[in-house]
Amino acid sequence: MKRIAVFASGTGSNARCLLDYFRNSGEAEVALIVCNNPKAGVLQLAAETQTETLLLERERFSAGDAYVPVLQEKQIDFIVLAGFLWLVPEKLVRAYPDKIINIHPALLPKFGGKGMYGMHVHRAVIAAGETESGITIHYVNEHYDEGRYIAQVTCPVYATDTPEALAKRIQALEHAYLPETVLNVIGK
Ligand code: GRF
Repeated sequence: MKRIAVFASGTGSNARCLLDYFRNSGEAEVALIVCNNPKAGVLQLAAETQTETLLLERERFSAGDAYVPVLQEKQIDFIVLAGFLWLVPEKLVRAYPDKIINIHPALLPKFGGKGMYGMHVHRAVIAAGETESGITIHYVNEHYDEGRYIAQVTCPVYATDTPEALAKRIQALEHAYLPETVLNVIGK
């Protein structure tokens, strides 16, 4: 049984999908929710589902041991970033080679990098006049949104779209594709 840690600091709708999907899978489980914001909605989800949590402190994460010993002690095999905004330090990338993936709500390499998250992404996509957007699931290295791609799934952007409407379409794609993609790569 693989033990997944989901790093999330937002509402955690993707974390919820992963929890639901793996609950009785027999192959993997979401064993830990890792968060850097004590007020994040995802912590409520953790409480609701009785999932263990780890609250990160910036200095230790970015310039200290990056919580590698803690994650190892909790026997975490695989990490999914779903709404986690801090740069993953090299120490953590090295400790989990090809075992950390991220989901990004656009078709990288466009609309990625520092500051490109949430509504900023969808606003930029619409402002650029794109007719297509989508999601990118990729391995994580020590640069924002730059690791090898695992999957990209597209959806249309309509001329009448508001950022909110596009966000909804993208979120549906994320929920539909993230859990299965994790299952496909987790054993590799
Ligand atoms: C998702 O759009 C994901 O692509 C991004 O952060 C968002 C997290 O949303 N990296 P949620 O907290 O899972 O609802």
